[in-house]
Amino acid sequence: MTRLVLTTAGESHGKSVSAILSGVVAGLAVEPDAINVQLLRRQGGYGRGGRMKIEKDRVLIESGVRRGLTLGSPLLLRVLNKDHRIDEAPAVTRPRPGHADLAGMMKFITRDAREILERSSARETVVRVAAGAVAALLLEEFGIQVRGFVRSLGPVHAADIPEAVEELVRQRDASPFYCPDPAATDAMKQAVDQARAAGDTVGGVMEVRAFGVPPGLGTNATLDGRLDSRLAGALMSIPAMKAVEIGLGLAAASLPGSQVHDPIRKGTGGRPRRERNHAGGIEGGMTNGEPVVVRVAMKPISTLLKGLGSLDVATGEETTAAVERSDITAVPAASVVGEAMVALVLADALLEKTGGDTVTEVRRNLEGHLLAVNRLFENG
Ligand SMILES: Cc1cc2nc3c(=O)[nH]c(=O)nc-3n(C[C@H](O)[C@H](O)[C@H](O)COP(=O)(O)O)c2cc1C
Repeated sequence: MTRLVLTTAGESHGKSVSAILSGVVAGLAVEPDAINVQLLRRQGGYGRGGRMKIEKDRVLIESGVRRGLTLGSPLLLRVLNKDHRIDEAPAVTRPRPGHADLAGMMKFITRDAREILERSSARETVVRVAAGAVAALLLEEFGIQVRGFVRSLGPVHAADIPEAVEELVRQRDASPFYCPDPAATDAMKQAVDQARAAGDTVGGVMEVRAFGVPPGLGTNATLDGRLDSRLAGALMSIPAMKAVEIGLGLAAASLPGSQVHDPIRKGTGGRPRRERNHAGGIEGGMTNGEPVVVRVAMKPISTLLKGLGSLDVATGEETTAAVERSDITAVPAASVVGEAMVALVLADALLEKTGGDTVTEVRRNLEGHLLAVNRLFENG
Protein backbone atom coordinates (compact mmCIF):
# COMPACT_ATOMS: atom_id res chain seq x y z
CA MET A 1 0.00 0.00 0.00
CA THR A 2 1.34 3.45 -0.81
CA ARG A 3 -0.84 5.90 1.13
CA LEU A 4 -2.11 3.63 3.90
CA VAL A 5 0.32 1.60 5.99
CA LEU A 6 -0.95 -1.24 8.17
CA THR A 7 1.20 -2.91 10.81
CA THR A 8 -0.18 -5.53 13.16
CA ALA A 9 1.21 -6.97 16.38
CA GLY A 10 -0.03 -9.60 18.76
CA GLU A 11 -0.04 -13.32 19.52
CA SER A 12 -3.02 -15.64 19.73
CA HIS A 13 -2.81 -15.93 23.54
CA GLY A 14 -0.96 -12.68 24.24
CA LYS A 15 -2.55 -9.76 26.08
CA SER A 16 -3.95 -8.13 22.98
CA VAL A 17 -3.82 -7.83 19.22
CA SER A 18 -3.09 -4.36 17.82
CA ALA A 19 -2.94 -2.53 14.51
CA ILE A 20 -1.37 0.76 13.60
CA LEU A 21 -3.04 2.21 10.51
CA SER A 22 -1.36 5.33 9.19
CA GLY A 23 -2.30 7.48 6.21
CA VAL A 24 -6.00 7.90 7.03
CA VAL A 25 -7.05 11.46 6.15
CA ALA A 26 -8.44 13.85 8.78
CA GLY A 27 -12.14 14.46 9.31
CA LEU A 28 -13.47 10.92 8.95
CA ALA A 29 -16.12 9.92 11.48
CA VAL A 30 -14.97 6.73 13.24
CA GLU A 31 -17.04 5.32 16.11
CA PRO A 32 -16.05 2.05 17.85
CA ASP A 33 -19.45 0.51 17.11
CA ALA A 34 -18.92 0.80 13.35
CA ILE A 35 -15.83 -1.38 13.86
CA ASN A 36 -17.39 -3.69 16.46
CA VAL A 37 -20.15 -4.87 14.09
CA GLN A 38 -17.46 -6.15 11.75
CA LEU A 39 -15.55 -7.82 14.62
CA LEU A 40 -18.77 -9.60 15.57
CA ARG A 41 -19.21 -10.84 12.00
CA ARG A 42 -15.64 -12.19 11.99
CA GLN A 43 -16.32 -14.10 15.20
CA GLY A 44 -19.44 -15.72 13.81
CA GLY A 45 -20.28 -18.15 11.05
CA TYR A 46 -21.19 -21.83 11.30
CA GLY A 47 -18.31 -24.20 12.01
CA ARG A 48 -16.22 -22.05 14.35
CA GLY A 49 -14.44 -23.63 17.31
CA GLY A 50 -14.33 -22.96 21.06
CA ARG A 51 -12.02 -19.93 20.96
CA MET A 52 -14.63 -17.72 19.36
CA LYS A 53 -17.06 -18.57 22.17
CA ILE A 54 -14.54 -17.27 24.73
CA GLU A 55 -13.57 -14.01 23.04
CA LYS A 56 -15.97 -11.05 22.93
CA ASP A 57 -14.06 -8.76 20.60
CA ARG A 58 -14.43 -5.01 21.11
CA VAL A 59 -12.06 -2.44 19.63
CA LEU A 60 -10.17 0.14 21.67
CA ILE A 61 -9.31 3.17 19.55
CA GLU A 62 -6.24 4.40 21.36
CA SER A 63 -4.98 7.12 19.02
CA GLY A 64 -5.71 9.03 15.85
CA VAL A 65 -9.28 10.03 16.72
CA ARG A 66 -10.60 13.04 18.66
CA ARG A 67 -14.29 13.52 19.41
CA GLY A 68 -15.21 10.87 16.90
CA LEU A 69 -13.20 12.30 13.98
CA THR A 70 -9.82 11.18 12.63
CA LEU A 71 -6.92 13.62 13.06
CA GLY A 72 -4.78 12.47 10.13
CA SER A 73 -2.38 10.82 12.58
CA PRO A 74 -1.87 7.03 12.90
CA LEU A 75 -4.74 5.07 14.44
CA LEU A 76 -3.87 2.52 17.11
CA LEU A 77 -6.60 -0.11 17.18
CA ARG A 78 -6.45 -2.72 19.95
CA VAL A 79 -8.48 -5.81 20.82
CA LEU A 80 -7.87 -7.47 24.19
CA ASN A 81 -7.64 -11.27 24.42
CA LYS A 82 -9.71 -12.86 27.19
CA ASP A 83 -7.61 -16.02 26.87
CA HIS A 84 -4.07 -14.66 27.36
CA ARG A 85 -2.17 -17.58 28.89
CA ILE A 86 0.75 -17.40 26.43
CA ASP A 87 3.40 -18.05 29.10
CA GLU A 88 1.54 -21.04 30.59
CA ALA A 89 0.41 -22.60 27.30
CA PRO A 90 2.08 -26.01 26.78
CA ALA A 91 4.84 -26.67 24.27
CA VAL A 92 3.78 -28.14 20.91
CA THR A 93 6.26 -30.74 19.66
CA ARG A 94 4.03 -32.56 17.12
CA PRO A 95 3.76 -30.14 14.16
CA ARG A 96 0.45 -30.04 12.27
CA PRO A 97 0.75 -30.72 8.53
CA GLY A 98 -0.53 -27.67 6.66
CA HIS A 99 0.06 -25.26 9.53
CA ALA A 100 3.10 -23.03 9.99
CA ASP A 101 4.46 -25.31 12.77
CA LEU A 102 7.16 -27.40 11.04
CA ALA A 103 8.39 -24.76 8.58
CA GLY A 104 8.60 -22.29 11.48
CA MET A 105 10.45 -24.75 13.75
CA MET A 106 13.10 -25.12 11.05
CA LYS A 107 13.24 -21.38 10.38
CA PHE A 108 13.49 -20.25 14.01
CA ILE A 109 15.38 -23.38 15.21
CA THR A 110 13.03 -24.44 17.99
CA ARG A 111 11.44 -27.74 19.10
CA ASP A 112 8.39 -25.85 20.39
CA ALA A 113 5.97 -24.95 17.60
CA ARG A 114 4.04 -22.73 20.01
CA GLU A 115 6.70 -20.10 19.39
CA ILE A 116 5.49 -20.08 15.77
CA LEU A 117 1.78 -20.80 16.02
CA GLU A 118 1.06 -18.01 18.48
CA ARG A 119 1.72 -15.51 15.70
CA SER A 120 0.62 -17.54 12.67
CA SER A 121 -2.78 -18.13 14.27
CA ALA A 122 -5.52 -16.22 12.47
CA ARG A 123 -6.32 -14.43 15.73
CA GLU A 124 -4.22 -11.65 14.16
CA THR A 125 -6.91 -11.10 11.53
CA VAL A 126 -9.17 -9.48 14.15
CA VAL A 127 -7.28 -6.21 13.79
CA ARG A 128 -7.15 -6.46 10.01
CA VAL A 129 -10.92 -6.41 10.22
CA ALA A 130 -10.78 -3.39 12.55
CA ALA A 131 -8.46 -1.51 10.16
CA GLY A 132 -10.55 -2.60 7.18
CA ALA A 133 -13.66 -1.21 8.88
CA VAL A 134 -11.96 2.21 9.05
CA ALA A 135 -11.05 1.94 5.36
CA ALA A 136 -14.66 0.98 4.58
CA LEU A 137 -15.93 4.06 6.43
CA LEU A 138 -13.72 6.21 4.20
CA LEU A 139 -14.91 4.44 1.04
CA GLU A 140 -18.57 4.75 2.07
CA GLU A 141 -18.12 8.54 2.30
CA PHE A 142 -17.73 8.36 -1.49
CA GLY A 143 -20.45 5.78 -2.20
CA ILE A 144 -18.09 2.80 -2.48
CA GLN A 145 -19.41 -0.37 -0.82
CA VAL A 146 -17.29 -3.48 -0.30
CA ARG A 147 -19.15 -6.71 0.46
CA GLY A 148 -17.70 -10.19 1.03
CA PHE A 149 -19.61 -13.48 1.07
CA VAL A 150 -19.08 -17.22 0.82
CA ARG A 151 -19.25 -18.56 -2.73
CA SER A 152 -18.56 -22.23 -2.00
CA LEU A 153 -17.83 -24.49 0.92
CA GLY A 154 -16.21 -27.88 0.27
CA PRO A 155 -18.19 -29.42 -2.62
CA VAL A 156 -21.20 -27.05 -2.21
CA HIS A 157 -21.38 -24.08 -4.61
CA ALA A 158 -23.75 -21.12 -4.34
CA ALA A 159 -25.70 -20.75 -7.57
CA ASP A 160 -27.76 -17.58 -7.45
CA ILE A 161 -26.01 -14.44 -6.24
CA PRO A 162 -28.24 -11.33 -6.35
CA GLU A 163 -26.82 -8.55 -8.54
CA ALA A 164 -28.05 -5.67 -6.37
CA VAL A 165 -25.91 -4.94 -3.33
CA GLU A 166 -28.89 -4.50 -0.94
CA GLU A 167 -30.38 -7.89 -1.82
CA LEU A 168 -26.98 -9.57 -1.72
CA VAL A 169 -26.35 -8.23 1.79
CA ARG A 170 -29.87 -9.10 3.01
CA GLN A 171 -29.55 -12.72 1.91
CA ARG A 172 -25.93 -12.99 3.07
CA ASP A 173 -26.75 -11.72 6.54
CA ALA A 174 -29.60 -14.22 6.87
CA SER A 175 -27.18 -17.13 6.32
CA PRO A 176 -24.97 -18.65 9.05
CA PHE A 177 -22.43 -19.21 6.25
CA TYR A 178 -22.62 -15.61 4.97
CA CYS A 179 -23.75 -17.17 1.69
CA PRO A 180 -26.50 -15.33 -0.24
CA ASP A 181 -27.93 -18.59 -1.66
CA PRO A 182 -30.37 -20.21 0.88
CA ALA A 183 -30.32 -23.65 -0.80
CA ALA A 184 -26.52 -23.75 -0.73
CA THR A 185 -26.55 -22.66 2.92
CA ASP A 186 -28.50 -25.80 3.90
CA ALA A 187 -26.11 -28.06 2.00
CA MET A 188 -23.09 -26.27 3.56
CA LYS A 189 -24.43 -27.03 7.03
CA GLN A 190 -24.56 -30.72 6.15
CA ALA A 191 -21.02 -30.63 4.78
CA VAL A 192 -19.68 -29.09 8.01
CA ASP A 193 -21.64 -31.48 10.25
CA GLN A 194 -20.30 -34.46 8.31
CA ALA A 195 -16.73 -33.13 8.54
CA ARG A 196 -17.13 -32.53 12.28
CA ALA A 197 -18.41 -36.11 12.80
CA ALA A 198 -15.44 -37.44 10.84
CA GLY A 199 -12.90 -35.31 12.75
CA ASP A 200 -12.17 -33.50 9.50
CA THR A 201 -12.22 -29.89 8.20
CA VAL A 202 -13.58 -27.99 5.17
CA GLY A 203 -12.27 -25.19 2.92
CA GLY A 204 -14.04 -23.07 0.35
CA VAL A 205 -14.13 -19.94 -1.75
CA MET A 206 -15.05 -16.43 -0.66
CA GLU A 207 -15.98 -13.64 -3.03
CA VAL A 208 -15.65 -9.90 -2.49
CA ARG A 209 -17.46 -7.34 -4.64
CA ALA A 210 -16.89 -3.61 -4.50
CA PHE A 211 -19.70 -1.41 -5.85
CA GLY A 212 -19.48 2.24 -6.88
CA VAL A 213 -15.71 2.16 -7.48
CA PRO A 214 -14.64 5.16 -9.60
CA PRO A 215 -12.64 4.49 -12.78
CA GLY A 216 -8.91 5.11 -12.72
CA LEU A 217 -7.77 3.58 -9.41
CA GLY A 218 -4.49 1.69 -9.68
CA THR A 219 -2.16 2.12 -12.63
CA ASN A 220 -0.85 0.39 -15.75
CA ALA A 221 2.42 2.29 -15.40
CA THR A 222 4.31 0.38 -12.73
CA LEU A 223 4.69 -3.25 -11.75
CA ASP A 224 3.54 -2.85 -8.19
CA GLY A 225 0.96 -0.16 -8.96
CA ARG A 226 -1.40 -2.52 -10.79
CA LEU A 227 -4.54 -2.85 -8.72
CA ASP A 228 -5.01 -6.55 -9.50
CA SER A 229 -1.53 -7.31 -8.21
CA ARG A 230 -2.17 -5.25 -5.07
CA LEU A 231 -5.45 -7.03 -4.39
CA ALA A 232 -3.91 -10.46 -4.96
CA GLY A 233 -1.01 -9.69 -2.62
CA ALA A 234 -3.26 -8.37 0.13
CA LEU A 235 -5.66 -11.30 -0.11
CA MET A 236 -2.88 -13.89 -0.24
CA SER A 237 -1.48 -12.39 2.97
CA ILE A 238 -4.48 -13.83 4.85
CA PRO A 239 -3.53 -17.19 6.40
CA ALA A 240 -4.80 -20.27 4.52
CA MET A 241 -5.57 -18.48 1.23
CA LYS A 242 -4.21 -20.45 -1.71
CA ALA A 243 -5.49 -18.74 -4.87
CA VAL A 244 -6.99 -15.43 -5.99
CA GLU A 245 -9.13 -14.86 -9.07
CA ILE A 246 -10.05 -11.47 -10.55
CA GLY A 247 -13.33 -11.52 -12.51
CA LEU A 248 -13.56 -14.68 -14.60
CA GLY A 249 -10.15 -15.70 -13.24
CA LEU A 250 -8.91 -19.19 -14.10
CA ALA A 251 -11.90 -19.89 -16.37
CA ALA A 252 -10.71 -17.15 -18.77
CA ALA A 253 -7.70 -19.25 -19.73
CA SER A 254 -9.76 -21.93 -21.47
CA LEU A 255 -12.29 -19.73 -23.28
CA PRO A 256 -11.94 -17.83 -26.59
CA GLY A 257 -11.38 -14.06 -26.34
CA SER A 258 -14.84 -13.35 -27.76
CA GLN A 259 -16.39 -15.04 -24.71
CA VAL A 260 -14.05 -13.48 -22.20
CA HIS A 261 -13.75 -9.76 -22.91
CA ASP A 262 -16.61 -7.39 -22.15
CA PRO A 263 -17.81 -5.45 -25.26
CA ILE A 264 -18.05 -1.67 -24.84
CA ARG A 265 -21.45 -0.10 -25.60
CA LYS A 266 -22.76 3.44 -25.49
CA GLY A 267 -24.61 4.15 -22.25
CA THR A 268 -26.34 7.08 -20.55
CA GLY A 269 -24.96 10.49 -21.52
CA GLY A 270 -22.65 8.89 -24.09
CA ARG A 271 -20.63 7.23 -21.32
CA PRO A 272 -19.33 3.68 -21.90
CA ARG A 273 -21.42 0.78 -20.65
CA ARG A 274 -20.44 -2.88 -20.32
CA GLU A 275 -22.92 -5.70 -20.83
CA ARG A 276 -21.00 -8.05 -18.60
CA ASN A 277 -18.13 -7.85 -16.15
CA HIS A 278 -15.83 -10.78 -16.80
CA ALA A 279 -12.88 -8.47 -16.17
CA GLY A 280 -13.99 -8.03 -12.57
CA GLY A 281 -13.84 -4.26 -12.89
CA ILE A 282 -10.10 -4.10 -13.64
CA GLU A 283 -8.36 -3.70 -17.01
CA GLY A 284 -4.68 -2.83 -17.35
CA GLY A 285 -4.32 -2.79 -13.58
CA MET A 286 -6.86 0.08 -13.32
CA THR A 287 -10.50 0.16 -12.30
CA ASN A 288 -12.82 0.61 -15.29
CA GLY A 289 -15.93 1.77 -13.43
CA GLU A 290 -17.55 -1.68 -13.14
CA PRO A 291 -17.82 -3.47 -9.77
CA VAL A 292 -14.53 -4.99 -8.64
CA VAL A 293 -14.97 -8.76 -8.22
CA VAL A 294 -12.40 -11.07 -6.60
CA ARG A 295 -12.60 -14.65 -5.40
CA VAL A 296 -10.22 -16.33 -2.98
CA ALA A 297 -9.73 -20.05 -2.29
CA MET A 298 -9.19 -21.05 1.33
CA LYS A 299 -7.71 -24.45 2.10
CA PRO A 300 -9.33 -26.62 4.80
CA ILE A 301 -8.25 -25.88 8.39
CA SER A 302 -5.06 -27.80 9.13
CA THR A 303 -5.83 -28.67 12.77
CA LEU A 304 -7.77 -31.94 12.42
CA LEU A 305 -9.47 -33.58 15.40
CA LYS A 306 -8.44 -36.95 14.04
CA GLY A 307 -4.81 -35.76 13.75
CA LEU A 308 -2.73 -36.38 10.61
CA GLY A 309 0.62 -38.16 10.62
CA SER A 310 3.44 -36.17 12.23
CA LEU A 311 6.78 -36.47 13.95
CA ASP A 312 7.24 -35.76 17.66
CA VAL A 313 10.44 -33.72 17.69
CA ALA A 314 10.80 -34.30 21.47
CA THR A 315 11.02 -38.11 21.08
CA GLY A 316 11.95 -38.50 17.41
CA GLU A 317 9.00 -40.94 17.00
CA GLU A 318 6.32 -40.92 14.31
CA THR A 319 2.97 -39.97 15.81
CA THR A 320 -0.19 -37.95 15.11
CA ALA A 321 -0.21 -34.14 14.98
CA ALA A 322 -1.09 -31.93 17.95
CA VAL A 323 -4.69 -30.74 18.30
CA GLU A 324 -5.26 -27.11 19.30
CA ARG A 325 -8.77 -25.74 19.93
CA SER A 326 -9.84 -25.14 16.35
CA ASP A 327 -12.47 -24.38 13.72
CA ILE A 328 -14.04 -27.01 11.41
CA THR A 329 -14.30 -24.31 8.79
CA ALA A 330 -13.56 -20.58 8.85
CA VAL A 331 -14.54 -19.59 5.31
CA PRO A 332 -17.40 -17.34 6.57
CA ALA A 333 -15.00 -15.51 8.92
CA ALA A 334 -12.38 -15.37 6.16
CA SER A 335 -14.90 -13.58 3.92
CA VAL A 336 -15.04 -10.81 6.52
CA VAL A 337 -11.24 -10.61 6.57
CA GLY A 338 -11.19 -10.62 2.74
CA GLU A 339 -13.69 -7.78 2.69
CA ALA A 340 -11.41 -5.84 5.06
CA MET A 341 -8.31 -6.39 2.91
CA VAL A 342 -10.13 -5.31 -0.27
CA ALA A 343 -11.41 -2.20 1.54
CA LEU A 344 -7.86 -1.33 2.63
CA VAL A 345 -6.45 -1.76 -0.89
CA LEU A 346 -9.25 0.29 -2.48
CA ALA A 347 -9.01 3.05 0.13
CA ASP A 348 -5.26 3.17 -0.46
CA ALA A 349 -5.74 3.41 -4.24
CA LEU A 350 -8.42 6.08 -3.79
CA LEU A 351 -6.15 8.24 -1.63
CA GLU A 352 -3.30 7.71 -4.07
CA LYS A 353 -5.54 8.97 -6.90
CA THR A 354 -6.94 11.99 -5.04
CA GLY A 355 -4.15 12.99 -2.67
CA GLY A 356 -5.32 15.28 0.12
CA ASP A 357 -5.08 15.47 3.90
CA THR A 358 -8.78 15.74 4.71
CA VAL A 359 -12.02 14.07 3.68
CA THR A 360 -13.06 17.40 2.12
CA GLU A 361 -9.96 17.48 -0.07
CA VAL A 362 -10.48 13.89 -1.16
CA ARG A 363 -14.09 14.73 -2.10
CA ARG A 364 -13.07 17.81 -4.07
CA ASN A 365 -10.37 15.96 -5.98
CA LEU A 366 -12.52 12.92 -6.66
CA GLU A 367 -15.33 15.12 -7.99
CA GLY A 368 -12.82 16.87 -10.25
CA HIS A 369 -11.61 13.54 -11.59
CA LEU A 370 -15.13 12.26 -12.24
CA LEU A 371 -16.04 15.50 -14.02
CA ALA A 372 -13.02 15.09 -16.30
CA VAL A 373 -14.00 11.48 -17.03
CA ASN A 374 -17.54 12.54 -17.97
CA ARG A 375 -16.21 15.32 -20.25
CA LEU A 376 -14.31 12.70 -22.25
CA PHE A 377 -17.59 11.40 -23.61
CA GLU A 378 -19.57 14.65 -23.97
CA ASN A 379 -19.20 14.97 -27.75
CA GLY A 380 -19.28 11.29 -28.47
C1 LIG B 1 -10.47 -16.56 9.90
C2 LIG B 1 -9.49 -17.70 9.96
C3 LIG B 1 -9.60 -18.65 10.99
C4 LIG B 1 -8.70 -19.72 11.05
N1 LIG B 1 -8.86 -20.63 12.06
C5 LIG B 1 -8.00 -21.68 12.13
C6 LIG B 1 -8.14 -22.66 13.16
O1 LIG B 1 -9.04 -22.60 14.01
N2 LIG B 1 -7.26 -23.69 13.18
C7 LIG B 1 -6.24 -23.82 12.26
O2 LIG B 1 -5.47 -24.76 12.33
N3 LIG B 1 -6.08 -22.90 11.28
C8 LIG B 1 -6.92 -21.85 11.19
N4 LIG B 1 -6.76 -20.92 10.18
C9 LIG B 1 -5.69 -21.11 9.18
C10 LIG B 1 -4.29 -20.95 9.71
O3 LIG B 1 -4.13 -19.69 10.33
C11 LIG B 1 -3.27 -21.12 8.57
O4 LIG B 1 -3.52 -22.30 7.87
C12 LIG B 1 -1.85 -21.16 9.08
O5 LIG B 1 -1.50 -19.90 9.60
C13 LIG B 1 -0.81 -21.55 8.04
O6 LIG B 1 -0.76 -20.62 6.98
P1 LIG B 1 -1.03 -21.09 5.47
O7 LIG B 1 -2.28 -21.92 5.52
O8 LIG B 1 -1.23 -19.83 4.70
O9 LIG B 1 0.13 -21.90 5.01
C14 LIG B 1 -7.66 -19.84 10.10
C15 LIG B 1 -7.55 -18.87 9.07
C16 LIG B 1 -8.45 -17.82 8.99
C17 LIG B 1 -8.32 -16.81 7.89
